[in-house]
Amino acid sequence: MITPASRILGTGHYLPPIVRTNHDLEKMVETSDAWIIERTGIKERRIAPDGIVTSDMATAAAKQALEAAELSPTDLDMILVGTVTPDMPMPATAVFVQQKLGAGTCPSMDLSAACAGFIFGMSIADQFIRSGTMKNVLVVGVELLSRVIDWEDRTTCVLFGDGAGAVVLGPANGASIGGKPRGILSTKIQSDGALAQSLMIPGGGSVQPQSVEVIEQKRHKVHMKGQDIFKVAVKNLYSATKEALDMTGMTADEVDWICPHQANLRIIDFAATRLGVAKEKVLVNIDRVGNTSSASIPILLDESLRSGKVRTGDTIAMCALGAGISWGGAIVRM
Ligand code: ACO
Repeated sequence: MITPASRILGTGHYLPPIVRTNHDLEKMVETSDAWIIERTGIKERRIAPDGIVTSDMATAAAKQALEAAELSPTDLDMILVGTVTPDMPMPATAVFVQQKLGAGTCPSMDLSAACAGFIFGMSIADQFIRSGTMKNVLVVGVELLSRVIDWEDRTTCVLFGDGAGAVVLGPANGASIGGKPRGILSTKIQSDGALAQSLMIPGGGSVQPQSVEVIEQKRHKVHMKGQDIFKVAVKNLYSATKEALDMTGMTADEVDWICPHQANLRIIDFAATRLGVAKEKVLVNIDRVGNTSSASIPILLDESLRSGKVRTGDTIAMCALGAGISWGGAIVRM
């Protein structure tokens, strides 16, 4: 029997108010609503208005998660923010979240694992709680991708959206339901730097410092080899879930829900089919929010809990893959 060290005490999310539909995109690039739906499953995505920054969205999601956990910001022992769209290169977005929450002096840092950032954050938080070093850890996945997308590149601009999701993890303290332990049952995280060039923002760092040339060549925007990512995503989302399940001794048909990173409906369908999981068990919101990278799993989780679809005691398999490439899986009983 697995004894979880930590469990999810509360969840929250924030989606910015601007809705950009496929029809809006038809006016911006050579694309069509039908193509985007058929190839990705996306109908619309949310865009943050001017004046809203990454840490604002993260803070809004974090406040909801803290409220649901019945904790105050000063109860936090650590803040982890998964993002590839930080407020600025330095300092970490996490410290702005800390400042906006009024969360005292707990260690606060960003995690750069792209779409897998939330799973990486949960895995790290779980280790700290397991060691007894930390009690309550805020894990946020947040992206403001609309500011790093080339809105003239139809191969990327139709995919992404803005948003934030958050959970507060705390000690499991032996919590159980129906004789089964509640909490993080397993996490498995991995990276393969050999595929680093598949998805990147090549400019603006030490390789190509910000310059007029970098901006003119749009190297400060997202560059992606879509088909390479597609193939590895199907394979690794399956393996990440399988490996996380194996660590618990469970099989895919024993989980109530799959909560996959929302990259592309076809990727999700392929991975679920390979796992042998029925479609009804797969949580999906990509049609409304697009790919929000590290924010996608916590947004979907919070929506599913608040709507009553996912309930206390349900077992969820989470899986994500993104730039790096980095990927991971987690099995969680709520
Ligand atoms: N509208 C219309 N046509 C388009 C568009 C568009 N928005 N984008 C590309 N096309 C065209 C291409 O130019 C190409 O035209 P051509 O045949 O004349 O050359 C044709 O459509 C087919 O292009 P493909 O790249 O083969 O299309 P594919 O079916 O692979 O779909 C997509 C592209 C949606 C990007 C897919 O590869 C994908 O989803 N990949 C995964 C990428 C991803 O999810 N990235 C997110 C970050 S990582 C992650 O979250 C897992």
